[in-house]
Amino acid sequence: MSGLRTVLGGSGLLAVALGSVTGCEQGGLSPSAAQGRQVYLAHCATCHGPDPAQPGPLGPPIKGSSRTLLEAKVLRQTYPPGYTPKRPTQVMPPLPALAGDIPALADYLK
Ligand code: HEC
Repeated sequence: MSGLRTVLGGSGLLAVALGSVTGCEQGGLSPSAAQGRQVYLAHCATCHGPDPAQPGPLGPPIKGSSRTLLEAKVLRQTYPPGYTPKRPTQVMPPLPALAGDIPALADYLK
């Protein structure tokens, strides 16, 4: 590791460099929301579009979705009790592997 540190000028500089890259890309999002954005772009944007506030090619806008709604829909392909879905269809597949990313997704979408 000492060779790498020399090249990068120490871990402090590396941290600063990474910080400025993400800061620029994420437009001032909190770390959790920024992570949620990455998850959204990787797993949801195909159907919901790049902007969660707009309808996507397949899915409805999901900006403002609560954590409870995300858990139900993304993990279990259901809706919270009493919730009226935006669409009557069941096109979206459940993505239970994303259980650990739900809090970040909720932070990004709120
Ligand atoms: C294969 C396409 C597809 C993918 C991938 C997908 N969705 Fe969906 N999503 C849909 C469709 C279509 C609907 C409308 C209901 C249905 O048919 O399942 C929907 C509905 C939803 C709803 C319910 C909206 C409402 O208020 O009724 C939420 C929340 C949601 N998606 C979140 C996500 C999140 C978060 C991801 C990524 C982790 C994601 N979806 C990935 C297609 C998709």
